[in-house]
Amino acid sequence: MEQQVIFITGATGGLGSAMVKHFETKNVRLALHTYQHETYAVDCEHAWFQADLRHQEAIPQLVDEVLQRFGRIDVLINNAGISRNGLSWKLANEDWNDVLAINLTAPFLLTKAVLPGMRTQQFGRIISISSVVAQTGVAGTAAYAASKAGLLGLTKTVAKETATSGITANALALGYFDTGMITEVSPELQEQIRLQIPKQRLGSVDTILATIDWLLLPAADYVTGQTISLNGGLHS
Ligand SMILES: NC(=O)c1ccc[n+]([C@@H]2O[C@H](COP(=O)([O-])OP(=O)(O)OC[C@H]3O[C@@H](n4cnc5c(N)ncnc54)[C@H](OP(=O)(O)O)[C@@H]3O)[C@@H](O)[C@H]2O)c1
Repeated sequence: MEQQVIFITGATGGLGSAMVKHFETKNVRLALHTYQHETYAVDCEHAWFQADLRHQEAIPQLVDEVLQRFGRIDVLINNAGISRNGLSWKLANEDWNDVLAINLTAPFLLTKAVLPGMRTQQFGRIISISSVVAQTGVAGTAAYAASKAGLLGLTKTVAKETATSGITANALALGYFDTGMITEVSPELQEQIRLQIPKQRLGSVDTILATIDWLLLPAADYVTGQTISLNGGLHS
């Protein structure tokens, strides 16, 4: 069987680079997206692709470049994401637009661009990284929460549209993890967050990686349209 091609957006970020480290030890090929960070050495067949996901026209081109290089895409991980905080009545329209563009419109356009190939090959796995904030709402996160909630609706719909094509689409609603975005939060706020989590600790990226591995198993082909919550009990 041909080696699977896994396409990860935001592969230079905290969670993205942990995914790359994890997958480079497996028998797969990696299509890795970066926006502005320097790329790094990866220990398996791979290629880097640059794109600003705020630019809608860049997205079909990005997928074309991946397909030209690898010939197929088996797994799309919509991981790139940003947060711009501000109370709803103060949030700048530009911040709203950037968050929605990267966190929701880009996953839609990427999904749209990879689906024809996945439908032809009758196989595909789409995993979108959402957030507990989509489920609970958190003051100051209007754009982020709306974008991550939108991903859940997109996922359920794509799952129904592709259910008989060998494709699954699922979302991971993450609580607070010990890498990536959290490093931008002050130690005081991190401590406040930690105390709100029933497990009383931040999540480990291993939990995310194990869940992705599970979704990629052949036996997980019956799991589609799901929001899988990984949050230490924060939301139930
Ligand atoms: N860490 C957590 O606890 C947590 C919790 C819930 C959800 N999440 C979600 O998990 C995903 C990964 O987050 P993270 O914690 O790893 O964050 P991160 O370290 O800040 O990584 C964010 C990624 O998004 C990319 N990005 C930023 N602006 C972009 C743009 N204009 N166009 C294209 N890509 C852009 C960045 O690219 P560059 O590196 O090139 O700048 C980076 O790779 C996000 O969707 C986030 O919302 C994380």
